[in-house]
Amino acid sequence: MNKTMPIIMLAGLGLLVGSASALAVDVVSLRGDVDLDSKSEPFPVKRTMAVDGGIDENWENQPPLIPHSIDKDRITLRENGCLKCHSRADAKVENAPKPPKSHFIKRNGEKSKTIVAGRYFCTQCHVPQANAQPLVKNTYGK
Ligand code: HEC
Ligand code: HEC
Repeated sequence: MNKTMPIIMLAGLGLLVGSASALAVDVVSLRGDVDLDSKSEPFPVKRTMAVDGGIDENWENQPPLIPHSIDKDRITLRENGCLKCHSRADAKVENAPKPPKSHFIKRNGEKSKTIVAGRYFCTQCHVPQANAQPLVKNTYGK
């Protein structure tokens, strides 16, 4: 190794450290801007809806937005957390709106007693309300 190598390496290291600390100022992780030895604020477990009074529908026949948190409701092939409250049998007890007739009509037009397969994955169409300001103005609908 010649004599200039360590100097070049040191200079390189200096640059690396310098740019890393410059980055650290701008980047805030999900954990927040809290150093490793201190405790960060935990995420709120229960999400309350951000929008008072909910969000109106924007166009006719829009799947209504979900006005409550759905963090704990799993939809898999075996279980559907939404149906614990929204099935025909449970909606009354849970005081939840019953899905409309459209959700009980098969592709061939026959009626079904249970939610049809095409409506099983509720969150394919229904999404929870959030107080997210649009980054780009939406001209669809209203
Ligand atoms: C613990 C019971 C419960 C569960 C589980 C539940 N909901 Fe609800 N849901 C309700 C109740 C009660 C309402 C009535 C509005 C309110 O007060 O929150 C409602 C309202 C809604 C509405 C609004 C209907 C309208 O006419 O505006 C939609 C859509 C909805 N839920 C979809 C879902 C979906 C999708 C899931 C699963 C990811 C789900 N819900 C899980 C109880 C529940
Ligand atoms: C393919 C899209 C789609 C899927 C999947 C779907 N929905 Fe809907 N949902 C709609 C649309 C569109 C409307 C409003 C128009 C209508 O009446 O069909 C609606 C309306 C509703 C309403 C409002 C009823 C009222 O009287 O205000 C509830 C509650 C609901 N759906 C629950 C559910 C649940 C629970 C699931 C899952 C088991 C589900 N939906 C799956 C599209 C869907």
